[in-house]
Amino acid sequence: MGSIEIKHLKLIDTIDQVGTLKRAAKKLYLTQSALSHQLRELETRLEIRIFHRVNNQLVFTPAGKAIREASEEVLERMHALEGTIQEIKKDDIRDYIHGYSDEETARLNDQAKSISQILHWDSKWDKESLILEAGCGVGAQTRIIAPLNPESSFVSIDLSSKSLKKAKESIEENNIENVTFKKADIFQLPFKDAHFDHVFLCFVLEHLSRPMDAVKELKRVLKPEGTITLIEGDHGSTYFHPDSENAKKLVEAQVTLQRKKGGNANIGRELYPILYDSGFCDITVSPRQVYVDDSKPELVEGFIKNTFTAMIKGISEEALAQKVVDKNELDAGIQDLYRTAEGGGTFCYTFFKAKAKKA
Ligand SMILES: C[S@@+](CC[C@H](N)C(=O)[O-])C[C@H]1O[C@@H](n2cnc3c(N)ncnc32)[C@H](O)[C@@H]1O
Repeated sequence: MGSIEIKHLKLIDTIDQVGTLKRAAKKLYLTQSALSHQLRELETRLEIRIFHRVNNQLVFTPAGKAIREASEEVLERMHALEGTIQEIKKDDIRDYIHGYSDEETARLNDQAKSISQILHWDSKWDKESLILEAGCGVGAQTRIIAPLNPESSFVSIDLSSKSLKKAKESIEENNIENVTFKKADIFQLPFKDAHFDHVFLCFVLEHLSRPMDAVKELKRVLKPEGTITLIEGDHGSTYFHPDSENAKKLVEAQVTLQRKKGGNANIGRELYPILYDSGFCDITVSPRQVYVDDSKPELVEGFIKNTFTAMIKGISEEALAQKVVDKNELDAGIQDLYRTAEGGGTFCYTFFKAKAKKA
């Protein structure tokens, strides 16, 4: 006996719903003769009639009824499966280069903690503001900015349920009570126009292929006169001592891989034009340089080793797979990055913090 295909199940299900081949063809965007052909094909394969024609209507035979009953269940399950796949796709965000591992969670937390003073000494907004944090990840920045603004309320969103779960746990562990979390896409925010007093975003635009569209959507949900804060890095600002061609090659490899995924690891320098072209006014950009030497052991550990080098190590497999570096260059580059964290080594990296107002 020949096999029944999904297209046959869809056809039978549709005929059951609309009663005639003509209406089924219209519903499925096919010609009537194509549908008749599919029907005949199935009857031939199964060697049994599926319908009787009664007064121009198609009436199921017992075999037809059996197929219709099964098709309902199969199509429902397929529909559910498609929904599940969409959810998985959204959760994993293929384009997010750093992934969602426990190591990455630790790295984001180390990054936020080690440079919190440099980035957040001025992350204080008007009291009683409603603040949207876009792309909160595991809540590494949320944990810092929410307590700095105890009289304001935060709505922190991310596309990853996994990260949101970790963020919620972290906020609860720290007894922070002015944050609610929501799964949402920056490009399609589930909020009405002019809803928030302030929007905050940190280390997210660098991963997006359409950063300006994201910023425009963030602008939509801001109240007139509302303000926005964007913080992004720029790998072009990385330099260190002792200098190393292999280490520089690894930084460049990260830039290349991120570009291949549609992102931009050098986006810090573009924050002003992005905000300007998105129609914001009163734009100010403040470069925040992290400079590390032996006299700053916390930054040696928290920034050079646990943030920057950890980030580069995190892309090792992909860099090798994509042949942007070879194994020798990779090992030597990582060793040289660690060398900058040892006696006499120094390291510089610049973040950019931009603020602007919705006219
Ligand atoms: C590098 S993490 C930064 C997280 C956090 N802001 C921090 O600084 O620790 C980037 C985050 O952006 C999220 N993201 C990427 N694209 C997104 C989108 N379209 N909508 C919402 N979140 C998105 C990712 O899921 C990830 O959690």
